[in-house]
Amino acid sequence: FERQDGRPFRQRLLVVANRLPVSAVRRGEDSWSLEMSSGGLVTALLGVKGFEARWIGWAGVNVPDEIGQRALTDALAQKKCIPVFLDEEIVHQYYNGYCNNILWPLFHYLGLPQEDRLATTRSFQSQFAAYQKANQMFADVVNKHYEEGDVVWCHDYHLMFLPKCLKEYNSNMKVGWFLHTPFPSSEIHRTLPSRSELLRSVLAADLVGFHTYDYARHFVSACTRILGLEGTPEGVEDQGRLTRVAAFPIGIDAERFIRALDTLPVQEHIKELKERFAGRKVMLGVDRLDMIKGIPQKILAFEKFLEENSYWHDKVVLLQIAVPTRTDVPEYQKLTSQVHEIVGRINGRFGTLTAVPIHHLDRSLDFHKLCALYAVTDVALVTSLRDGMNLVSYEFVACQDLKKGVLILSEFAGAAQSLGAGAILVNPWNITEVAASIAQALNMPAEEREKRHQHNFKHVTHHTAQEWAEMFVSELNDTVVEAQLRTRQ
Ligand code: ADP
Ligand code: F6P
Repeated sequence: FERQDGRPFRQRLLVVANRLPVSAVRRGEDSWSLEMSSGGLVTALLGVKGFEARWIGWAGVNVPDEIGQRALTDALAQKKCIPVFLDEEIVHQYYNGYCNNILWPLFHYLGLPQEDRLATTRSFQSQFAAYQKANQMFADVVNKHYEEGDVVWCHDYHLMFLPKCLKEYNSNMKVGWFLHTPFPSSEIHRTLPSRSELLRSVLAADLVGFHTYDYARHFVSACTRILGLEGTPEGVEDQGRLTRVAAFPIGIDAERFIRALDTLPVQEHIKELKERFAGRKVMLGVDRLDMIKGIPQKILAFEKFLEENSYWHDKVVLLQIAVPTRTDVPEYQKLTSQVHEIVGRINGRFGTLTAVPIHHLDRSLDFHKLCALYAVTDVALVTSLRDGMNLVSYEFVACQDLKKGVLILSEFAGAAQSLGAGAILVNPWNITEVAASIAQALNMPAEEREKRHQHNFKHVTHHTAQEWAEMFVSELNDTVVEAQLRTRQ
């Protein structure tokens, strides 16, 4: 195995994330089919080549029986994946509860679920216990497969307790932890009842990584203010032990998208889409159907744009592709009905017998269709209320080298720090501003579009998922070597 610079990797990488890159669907007692999972973490890690990697995680399904577990383990082994089996109760309390009802909204500055604050506060202790238990189950599987010299790379808010569990098994294990969401201001983090336990556990890792410098700074502030530890330019120090903390902005495998555009299936989809939407400008949203993505706000801004710009009524269409996610969590169920209701109302208001202004699809699109959609789009709308990075914005840019469409991007997405100079940045809560930016984007002269696109395209093609992973792993190795040298002195 080789890196981009030609040097070989001799280490095995154990990637540990709540979700495996494939989700399992049961077809019989001992037969399974595997489907691609959606989400930025999966997309980014699948874009990384050249590591001798194993992926440890949950296959998104409850498998109570031994026959099923054995068959699924075998099926996943073909994909170099190792399953962690979580039962229904744990999934309910750990994944739906603590991860997605508590940590997720809190880390995205949305607070606890609106109508349910007291109930959430009451169930907090049992959900945190389940979270710790689930993290211990992940640690058990890692420990079973760990070989001396392996690098263990833990991912995301689901597994904040994991570094501590792993170091308890083996203090020599090289452990890195990376967060794919924002890390909020310490004033938000300190409202969490389990704030200290989570910080202490993450600090057990050798290297802690975030998408942006701001998230890293918030984490260090939380450690100094909540735990009373010392923050240094390198990270956080506790009784002479340094946990290195740094920013590693993620990217995509841009070449994969660029290459796909020339393939026959993508070209055919492009042709169909061009015929279907001839004479209209195409605006596009691609998101998991999640409250952080600001989908209702985006659609309301589009409605405002239509209200104020009758010229565009039959000349523009918004395609919103929203793959359902976390469908057992009540907040997500409410969001689905809310989006359907708003889309129905606006289409009723502005639609004609032959055309509607919004096409909303609740589904995942395959890679070729997605590339074709990105390629025919004139304006992409990424209006996340908060987002760790947002790779959809990167994918759009990668597919736009011919068309040079405009990216409207939330200032609250991590991507605003890298694509800000090329995109039109907006506050997604301000629908008047977003509506005005839609008008600006649709009327933007070709020369300006070209300039903005070049800036973004350069970034997306240079700062890739591969570079991100190589930087993280080599920094982790260096950090461990430096720590060993320090203890010898
Ligand atoms: P998140 O990690 O919150 O899901 P990102 O924008 O970083 O957000 O990553 C989302 C990933 O999921 C992207 O790779 C995108 O292509 C994919 N994705 C999102 N929605 C869909 C969809 N409807 N169909 C296919 N892929 C999707
Ligand atoms: O990128 C954030 C993230 O939570 C990833 O960890 C995850 O893969 C993705 O969103 C999709 O969420 P879920 O795994 O809950 O479907």
